[in-house]
Amino acid sequence: MEIQLWRELLNPYELAVNELILKFRHFIKEHKENGLYSPIEQVTGRVKTISSILEKMQKKQIPFEELEEKIEDIAGIRIICQFVEDIYKVVELMNQRDDIEVKLVKDYLNNVKDSGYRSYHLIIYYNVQTIKGPKKIQVEIQIRTLAMDFWATVEHSLQYKYKHNMPEHIKDRLTSAAHAVQVLDNEMSSVRSEIMDAQNSFQIKANVVADILNNIQNLYKVANKREVSKIQDEFYKIYKTEDVEKLKRFNKQLDIISEGYRAQAITRESMYEIR
Ligand code: GTP
Ligand code: MG
Repeated sequence: MEIQLWRELLNPYELAVNELILKFRHFIKEHKENGLYSPIEQVTGRVKTISSILEKMQKKQIPFEELEEKIEDIAGIRIICQFVEDIYKVVELMNQRDDIEVKLVKDYLNNVKDSGYRSYHLIIYYNVQTIKGPKKIQVEIQIRTLAMDFWATVEHSLQYKYKHNMPEHIKDRLTSAAHAVQVLDNEMSSVRSEIMDAQNSFQIKANVVADILNNIQNLYKVANKREVSKIQDEFYKIYKTEDVEKLKRFNKQLDIISEGYRAQAITRESMYEIR
């Protein structure tokens, strides 16, 4: 095939890669701007080189007419996450988006490859607009953690170096490194839930405190000032203990007192459980 025809063929794939990178980077940006944790840490992408397309066609006996159908990774996107849990969040996200149609999934997290390779792959359909009109193309999306990416990058380089003759002792080291990566990811997962728990209780405490202050403010309007002053001192005492359960009970009592004064504040009970 002439080089000009290759360019024509690859152009829509380049557009898809650029569009998807832009979209996922904006996804990260939006999370950061809203103070939210982003399940996506980094995004990269690439269009397969002509030489590796030719290599794959030869290896898999793919004729030119079937190139675009049979080679699913001409356009490739790699999404890197901090934690394994984030990978599943990203997969869910892909299923929800209406600009992405999932063709198939390859779950190398639950079905670890013999090499030790772990990642979650999706082959998707994605529409691009070309000067000849819309074109639906396939994109391979690889989703993995930072640790999995480290392993895959190193292993890929070694595969390249040794072609198909990787020495046994190096294979063994890679296998044991793959185990270490899995242990590391598990350890990190436990830290993740700690972080989530901490953020959760922080939010709960902030909401209770806001409620208590709201109650006290309302009581000021209707109750005896000295009594409210005492309540306020009591609140500070409990607040210093950093015991959220005590704060919750105290708030309930305040609700009852307020009710007595018909100064019931708007309860935000449901918000206590927000993550
Ligand atoms: P190719 O492996 O691309 O020929 O196609 P396939 O149909 O076998 O797909 P597969 O899901 O096995 O691999 C797709 C891509 O995942 C590869 O191109 C690599 O980027 C990556 N991959 C798969 N297996 C390994 C592995 O053992 N090590 C590394 N480093 N990457 C892998
Ligand atoms: Mg393969």
